[in-house]
Amino acid sequence: MTLSVGVLVSGGGSNLQSLIDRKESGVLDARISTVISNVPGVKGLERAVKHGIPSQVLSHRDYPNRRAYDQALVRGLRQAEVEAVILAGFMRVVGPDLLAAFPRRVLNIHPALLPAFPGLHAQEQAVTHGVRLAGCTVHFVDEQVDHGPIIIQAAVPAQAGDDADSLGARILALEHRIYPQAVHWLAQDRLEIRNRQVVLHPADALPADPAGLPSCLIHPMLEHGF
Ligand code: GRF
Repeated sequence: MTLSVGVLVSGGGSNLQSLIDRKESGVLDARISTVISNVPGVKGLERAVKHGIPSQVLSHRDYPNRRAYDQALVRGLRQAEVEAVILAGFMRVVGPDLLAAFPRRVLNIHPALLPAFPGLHAQEQAVTHGVRLAGCTVHFVDEQVDHGPIIIQAAVPAQAGDDADSLGARILALEHRIYPQAVHWLAQDRLEIRNRQVVLHPADALPADPAGLPSCLIHPMLEHGF
């Protein structure tokens, strides 16, 4: 059975698009049953319409408090018969009601190598800090912001002269590769959380993807012999 997912967005939805593209090319084993935005008129909603995916606007401004908004999200997701929730640039903190409704079935992507630079403006934080490697993280969502068990990360070198936009663009290109991969693993029920470590179980008789990411990325600044 294909996993039914709901994708929550607040803006451009390029990560949503990466999921749609992998779905349409037949490699992603999940069905996007609904796209919910807390902001009306965003490009993420347009993308859903263009690809025939039902969408909803649930503005947090229409609810008296976080809890009421969370419960509205749960209703919207349940109406669409969603089994897992994919946060893709959703600029609201999700609370205990939503997490309890979809236990171990809420994923987020963050544009930094967590636990470094949680919260807003992660790309700018990385540039300001002067990191050599930046990147992105897909993780299970728990009660704390950008904190839950890590599923996959990808790293990219920071270059001299990078600003948040130039570095962010290279990070985003990696986001578009690792998020569909993580959702695919979730859909195949291959992810197990042990304490806070995520174990990836092998697929049945699936060959390794020759175009997949290398198992580790090392900064090219390393000199010969190291
Ligand atoms: C991405 O950088 C994601 O990591 C962060 O918000 C941004 C969303 O971009 N959580 P998009 O809306 O998917 O283009």
